[in-house]
Amino acid sequence: MELDLNILKPQERVSFQLRVLYEKAGYRKYHMSRFEEYGLYQENRSFLPSEQVITFTDLDGRLLALKPDVTLSIAKNAQAAPGECARYYYSENVYRPSEESHTFREIRQMGLECIGAVDDRREEQALSLAVDSLAATGTPWVMELSHMGFVTGLLDAVGAPESARPRLLRCVRDKNGHELRKAAEAAGLSRQGIDALCRLPGLSGAWEEVLSAADGLALNASMGAALAELRTICAALEEEGKSGSLKLDLSLVNDIDYYNGLVFQGFLQGLPRPVLKGGRYDPLADKFTPGARAIGFALYLDELERLSAPEPPVERGAGEQVMLNVALPKGRLGDKVYDLLSGVGYGCPENYSDTRKLVVENPRAGIRYFLVKPSDVAIYVEHGAADIGIVGKDILEESGADVYELLDTGLGKCRMCVAGPEDFTDDPGRTLRVATKFVSIAKRYFADQGRDIDIIKLNGSIELAPILGLSDVIVDIVETGTTLKENHLKVLREFMPISARFIANKASFQFKHREIEALLKKLAEVTESDSHL
Ligand code: PRP
Repeated sequence: MELDLNILKPQERVSFQLRVLYEKAGYRKYHMSRFEEYGLYQENRSFLPSEQVITFTDLDGRLLALKPDVTLSIAKNAQAAPGECARYYYSENVYRPSEESHTFREIRQMGLECIGAVDDRREEQALSLAVDSLAATGTPWVMELSHMGFVTGLLDAVGAPESARPRLLRCVRDKNGHELRKAAEAAGLSRQGIDALCRLPGLSGAWEEVLSAADGLALNASMGAALAELRTICAALEEEGKSGSLKLDLSLVNDIDYYNGLVFQGFLQGLPRPVLKGGRYDPLADKFTPGARAIGFALYLDELERLSAPEPPVERGAGEQVMLNVALPKGRLGDKVYDLLSGVGYGCPENYSDTRKLVVENPRAGIRYFLVKPSDVAIYVEHGAADIGIVGKDILEESGADVYELLDTGLGKCRMCVAGPEDFTDDPGRTLRVATKFVSIAKRYFADQGRDIDIIKLNGSIELAPILGLSDVIVDIVETGTTLKENHLKVLREFMPISARFIANKASFQFKHREIEALLKKLAEVTESDSHL
């Protein structure tokens, strides 16, 4: 009987193909025990994507956990002899909290780990197998490559203080050039240092171009060595004929506690987030086997399920141009942005203001608008239902959506404030009661201040809360200040400037790059915006 691979689901078919691929490359299957000692995760929290782990007590009283991660277990157990390299692949379920389902999810991961005497050849082989793994899906793919040594080297070179680094790195990761500049200024960096840092988000594209653009920016030995390593590995992949969909993006900064060298992530067309993530993680390997080095990656097989979903409607407009899907917030801000875009060639034949339709499009211009509730814009974009969107910074920050923030349009300016009764004085001996729509923002703000609070989540008319004694203060947006004034309240502290931001889905940014850049450029010209790409 012949095996017909077509009856298999994409993730089943791919998992077969990967098994063959990794076996042929000399990797051995790693058999893991079903559960792991909880202590392993407790001692290595900084290497985990989340601190939340499902635990239970075994029959002998030991505290065990359902694996949230595979690499930690392999790094602990795969002790390579000096000078040797242990090479394993795995296909395992891991259990992680999912923000979407608000519960733990079982995630099927397949990947490989190479631990011990990892040299250039082994590193290149691992990356080459990562590329082959994406190609095995039969779907157009993009592999993004970066080097942590370049970014950390740059932070060292410009003298970025440790305390400012998480904020700077977050701006770099989000390609948020406008806030990166402000954060760098606030950190007291020199003018040259700020300019150098602000070039990072734009250092993305074809590998040779990016490397030549980055060469002039190599300010120390660590940055130079990172670029040299990237050059060698990209040239080797090119020789193997595997560089066609390879991109360098030096703003790709995976978890800095975990990865220390080469980092990469892979995208498949039609899927909204990276399906493959990996890189060098020498610090973790060294913890279990002093002197050991390591590289590995994981492919999220569950994500492939969506590849068998029906194709989205008409992905190409008239004249075969790619359709850009835009999430616009219903209301004044959305109307304003539509007018601006319409003025630069992205209008629709239908009268936008008259229609009650939620989708309007112009296939000729390659544009489709979804009119969504303002608080949902970031969700549509993060999940890839829209490629790009316009969203208030308040909503973006509150949602924590993993998207690129490419431009500050300067529209809809207001500020996030703590406000309270005109005669309010804080009593630090008491827990402060805070009413707000913005629970995450408020929690983060007061945690930074070290102030103990109780949160009362409301959905509107927040100003009523202190008037009725429901709360001591509120955290809310203030535009003209009229609402506060008319209700005998005052701003106690202003802590976040708000305006409408242009955001993009990270996968769409790979596959519709040209279209997004073109629209971004035109929008930047007609707004008082700040884009550094
Ligand atoms: C927002 C905000 C304030 C008001 C501030 O409310 O929550 O109440 O605007 O604007 P101002 O400073 O110009 O007076 P929104 O209109 O969104 O209604 P909401 O009460 O439902 O939140």
